[in-house]
Amino acid sequence: MLSDEKQRHPFLEGLSKHRGAPPTVVVIFGASGDLTARKLVPAIYNLSLDNLLPPDFYLVGFGRKPLADNAFREAVTEAVRSYSRREFQPEIWKRVGGNALYHQGAYDEPAPYRSLRERIEAVEAEIGREVQVVFYISTPPSVFKPILENLGASGLARRHLHTPFASKVVIEKPFGSDLESARELNRVITEQFDERQVYRIDHYLGKETVQDLLVQRFANSIFEPLWNRRYVECVQITVAEDLGVGSRGSYYEQSGAMRDMIQNHTMQLLSLIAMEPPVSLDPEDIRDEKVKLLKAIQPLDLDENASDVVRAQYSEGLIGGRKVLGYTDEEGVASNSATETYTALRLSINNWRWAGVPFYMRSGKRMARRVSEIAVQFKRPPGILFSDAERFDLASNTMVIQIQPDEGTTLLLNSKIPGLETRTQPVKMHFRYRTTYGSNTPEAYERLILDAMVGDSTLFIRGDETEASWYLITPILEHWRKLGRRGMASYVAGSWGPLASERLLWDNRHEWRRAGP
Ligand code: BG6
Repeated sequence: MLSDEKQRHPFLEGLSKHRGAPPTVVVIFGASGDLTARKLVPAIYNLSLDNLLPPDFYLVGFGRKPLADNAFREAVTEAVRSYSRREFQPEIWKRVGGNALYHQGAYDEPAPYRSLRERIEAVEAEIGREVQVVFYISTPPSVFKPILENLGASGLARRHLHTPFASKVVIEKPFGSDLESARELNRVITEQFDERQVYRIDHYLGKETVQDLLVQRFANSIFEPLWNRRYVECVQITVAEDLGVGSRGSYYEQSGAMRDMIQNHTMQLLSLIAMEPPVSLDPEDIRDEKVKLLKAIQPLDLDENASDVVRAQYSEGLIGGRKVLGYTDEEGVASNSATETYTALRLSINNWRWAGVPFYMRSGKRMARRVSEIAVQFKRPPGILFSDAERFDLASNTMVIQIQPDEGTTLLLNSKIPGLETRTQPVKMHFRYRTTYGSNTPEAYERLILDAMVGDSTLFIRGDETEASWYLITPILEHWRKLGRRGMASYVAGSWGPLASERLLWDNRHEWRRAGP
């Protein structure tokens, strides 16, 4: 039995109103950025709509360009109007939006940090209480380091340390661009902050369906006996988008699918679906298991003829009947670009549970449809009774957890077609969030911002976790860098990816699922 303490764990309490955060100032670095407008500010609005913000809550935007407090207030209000999942209610927003402050300064100069500290102390003097400060770093990665160092030098990082008002720092991706840069970033962070103050974001962990992976796996007894190499044939993880790179071409050129999606989001899905049961829901226990899993993944074979990895770029094609550009014709993209917009990998996990079970992962832009799913394909039944292929269309039992959209779980079974003759057909059992729970689930960022405010790091990445993932991926990136464009496959926009990615599965006589419900 769990102790009372464990049962009160914040992961279990979720967005409950009992999770009081202390008085809080959230300082967003990169205040005029796209993420702030599209995700962060609307998330804060929705938290205030649910009455989940502490009564003393202040929003401060930190940015380079000069802006009056009033202009910032208008900008955040406009962001809520445009991007909130629920309707804008001026009365609700007045308390937060009406008090929002803008702090202008260069990220790499000490003076604005000193004046920021004074502003925060003025808030404390005004309300007569201490406040915790959550620094949300949502800038380009080139300024992560000066921001962190200046937070340290100004004393902001260690304010009220070892009290409930200790500062916290939330860091957006990209967390480094390879193993060495991730290590360096971890070094800079831990020089200024204790690991307990640090919240590395992967917004996939805030998605309702991703949290549900822990519940589906460990709150049901029927799966665990089957969740291993004796019964599982292979696992396929697909994170497909129909969007192209849009206006983010110059960012994406430095990133590519491997850094943008695989190193973080897809690896997180893999660790949660394959890790061992943690001994408790304590964040450290869960993250220990994820790290163990990542460390058990074998180095990938990069040999041209047996490579475990495929990369490709999309060429011109049709999405939803509309003609779209090829990647190298997109704005901000070099015509001879060697950046991949699609990656597929074949992984082996060398542990007792998974030895011999291939894990396939793929992610790409401009694919046939937007769908993220994890499919656990079980071994085929022995064809002793139903072996006549004409009449018996036997499928492998497959459990498909659809992360988005149309969130839910589907189980693929074989069934008898009603009639006097015995014929079989694969059928699907569906559980859909929409029909069971309605569709108004919180956005990932609502959960994550609240978690950081109340100090629950379960859904954030630990330093060693991100390094374990980079350890696996960096040799591939290095290999590709040497090859330039050589070996880059291509796929038509609107398709399911390059032929080469099919070959990745042929060795084991597998094929990619047609992803989706
Ligand atoms: C971001 C990537 O981390 O995730 C984007 O940088 C990608 O390129 C996005 O489009 C996908 O997130 P979601 O929540 O829409 O699946």
